[in-house]
Amino acid sequence: MTLSRRLAAFPRRGYVKSPTPIEHLPRLSRALDVGVEIFVKRDDLLPGCLGGNKTRKLDFAIAQALAEGADALVTSGAVQSNHCRLTLAWAIHEGLECHLVLEERVPRSYDPRGSGNNFLFNLLGADSVTVVPGGSPVSEKTAEIADRLRVSGRRPYVIPGGAADPLGALGYAACAQELVEQLDEIDYGFRHVTCATGSGGTQSGLVAGLAAAGSSLEVLGVNVRRPRREAQEELVAALADEVFRLLGGAGPLERRRTRCFEGFLGPGYSLPDEGTLEAVRLAARTEALLVDPVYTGKALAGLIGLAREGFFERGERVLFLHTGGFPALFSYLPAFPETAGPLSEAPAGPAAAR
Ligand SMILES: Cc1ncc(COP(=O)(O)O)c(C=O)c1O
Repeated sequence: MTLSRRLAAFPRRGYVKSPTPIEHLPRLSRALDVGVEIFVKRDDLLPGCLGGNKTRKLDFAIAQALAEGADALVTSGAVQSNHCRLTLAWAIHEGLECHLVLEERVPRSYDPRGSGNNFLFNLLGADSVTVVPGGSPVSEKTAEIADRLRVSGRRPYVIPGGAADPLGALGYAACAQELVEQLDEIDYGFRHVTCATGSGGTQSGLVAGLAAAGSSLEVLGVNVRRPRREAQEELVAALADEVFRLLGGAGPLERRRTRCFEGFLGPGYSLPDEGTLEAVRLAARTEALLVDPVYTGKALAGLIGLAREGFFERGERVLFLHTGGFPALFSYLPAFPETAGPLSEAPAGPAAAR
């Protein structure tokens, strides 16, 4: 049975109306001059409040919530969580309550008046926001909130952080299907697709979907949360196997399909290093493409770093999966001091590269 027929067995809300575009980034490729041509799949343009990868996952997760008669969603993420913003946005569209648990993974990083996604939690009006210290048992907290809601007569549905369960990851199996169809139409000759990998659902779903579709495209995950490659690969492989089974596949997937890279995390989750900031600036100044310092800036820095190390063949066309996240950029203004002064004070390089 084809992947699209297997996917059709799972309810979806239809949040993804059309394929996200694949675009060439000629100016970025030229400015980098590292022997690769970079293309981007624009999942940052997905519907939902300011787009991003979670819309694909929530398409499946919220369909399940509604099938179970839920009238409230409870979920969790970091203090600038894109997943929380999008869960809240889709909850509003569906007429559901939305309760958020924010984990302060970096001490003192929660600012109730903060910009970026935090501003949007407040503007869109989350029904409750609970902040817990980093390393707390977050799933216990979401379960506790769900219990409280039940006592008050609500029917809550808990979506795990990042919607990183097999159901949510199906959203990226659906993306794999979409991608395979796009590549059937135009053969770009891609051998690798690079993406950020955090809770692991995006990479796992993509890997399982590509395998189920019989595609040999290799997914390269750039760690944005865990410092160790092996830890992330284990997580992604376990989830990818579960998604593959859900899609009717047999046996564990080959481990070479779930590759992760650890060298681009910087000082830690949500903390950018020079490579991340270079990627953010370059993408902005060469292509007017916004990537963020938490996820997609690190993933792009990973692609650039791998190209500089000679990982790709000379002249290879490499696909960058842009998973969104640019709203968080607005909470990182101090990391870009040049934006506070006249343009002439901007560091030379990226602008000159145009
Ligand atoms: C913008 C963005 N890109 C990538 C990721 C990583 O995706 P995943 O959590 O599915 O690994 C996230 C996760 O929150 C995200 O918000």
